Amino acid sequence: MTAAPQALVFDAYGTLFDVHSVTRLADTLFPGRGAALSQAWRTKQLEYTWLRSLMGRYDGFDVVTADALDWALESLRLEAGAAAREALLAAYRTLSPFPEVRGALEALGRGRPLAILSNGHPEMLDAVVDHNELRVFFGERVLSVHAAGVFKPDPRVYALATATLELPAEAVGFVSSNGWDAAGAKSFGFRAYWVNRAGAPVERLGTAPDAVVADLAGLAGLLGG
Ligand code: LAC
Repeated sequence: MTAAPQALVFDAYGTLFDVHSVTRLADTLFPGRGAALSQAWRTKQLEYTWLRSLMGRYDGFDVVTADALDWALESLRLEAGAAAREALLAAYRTLSPFPEVRGALEALGRGRPLAILSNGHPEMLDAVVDHNELRVFFGERVLSVHAAGVFKPDPRVYALATATLELPAEAVGFVSSNGWDAAGAKSFGFRAYWVNRAGAPVERLGTAPDAVVADLAGLAGLLGG
């Protein structure tokens, strides 16, 4: 068994924060359609990051998220006024963390630095971290792809974390609930911990995660504190 990682880097959306916590607001605005809207929005948001990266284009995640919302609304034939649209976008700044997050970060952060590396625009990330009072775990190590001008899983993004932590990739554990993100991190050279919240099959992308856990409490059990 290799030594435990010297630092841990967390994906944000879906890993620490539940993107589908907007469902309740969406359901209030569009009764019975909240879950469908949330799913379509998230799926299109990720597609738009990958497609922009393939086109050699970059817009901040705030723009991507708004574009994806507009597409999702239209695809579901939902009419949102300006106030509803703004409320949905603002909800991204106050997403709820998954229930085990705080306790797991307390355990996992004992004796090693923790960081976030996310597609999120820096302002979005700072807002959601501070709203949930998680800054204490990460300090200034809340990193955005914005500095690289490209989205995950481009290796230039993961390199932001090794540069900030001043550690080689193999000394760093990368934690993501997004199987494709865990694959990208493993391909870069990190140790990849896949938080398989959805019970999804492993991505067929030529890599395998170093460990699979059901949630962050499972990772705390694995890596101790
Ligand atoms: C992020 C996306 C992948 O936070 O959820 O980077």
